[in-house]
Amino acid sequence: MHPAPSNNQRPAPPRHIAIIMDGNGRWAKARGLPRFAGHQRGADSVREAVQSCRELGVSYLTLYAFSSENWKRPASEVDDLMGLLRVYLRREMDELHRNDIRVRFIGDRSRLAPDIIDLLSRYEITTGKNTSMTLVVALNYGSQNEIVDACRRLAEEVEAGKRRASEIDATLFASYLQTADIPDPDLLIRTSGEQRLSNFLLWQSAYSELVFVNTLWPDFGRKSLEDAIDEFHRRDRRYGATEG
Ligand code: FPP
Repeated sequence: MHPAPSNNQRPAPPRHIAIIMDGNGRWAKARGLPRFAGHQRGADSVREAVQSCRELGVSYLTLYAFSSENWKRPASEVDDLMGLLRVYLRREMDELHRNDIRVRFIGDRSRLAPDIIDLLSRYEITTGKNTSMTLVVALNYGSQNEIVDACRRLAEEVEAGKRRASEIDATLFASYLQTADIPDPDLLIRTSGEQRLSNFLLWQSAYSELVFVNTLWPDFGRKSLEDAIDEFHRRDRRYGATEG
């Protein structure tokens, strides 16, 4: 990776970009290849997206790598995805750290393989003080579970007399989510032409600009990212207020 250049010609990039990486399977099918080949190329796109975001000055990049619903796929595909993740995590740690990138994980890690759980902790320890960019990887993540879990913990605290129900507001609630100290995404991109959120950052994307692109994830490179950012800059973000 190259050092992040200054980008005087462009407006400031979105602070936080979140991406639903979709279309690996269709990319492979169109080429008569097994789905695994699509996921492999998808992992290359992950690398490029991280590098591009860092170079463009994006502070947070969140990637939906494995949803809590992805366990419903055939066991062989789940194994392939976990295998790729393992290879990717092992291979990229040094370079991510050298590039001063902090890596964090959201999602329920208890169902992941012990060696992957261990890798995640090593990332958090090794990269925890890095400041150039934060890469958030959503793994066995589901937004509804995250919200229900936050509700449950708040309810337990009310039940135990540690909190009053009347003090619960949106700010307090957000502090019980796994993204507590991460700003909400400004721009949420989904590739492959599908137009839904699929249980990804439902609370956090309340005011995000949603950009749906037809490009399949393995084809999503630097130029596609820049186009999505340009689209973001054309939008008029009002957060519910009127113009002006
Ligand atoms: C969607 O393609 C993508 C995923 C299931 C998750 C994304 C996984 C990767 C990019 C692989 C490696 C990840 C990391 C972090 C190294 P799909 O299979 O749903 O495609 P389809 O809708 O065309 O079938």
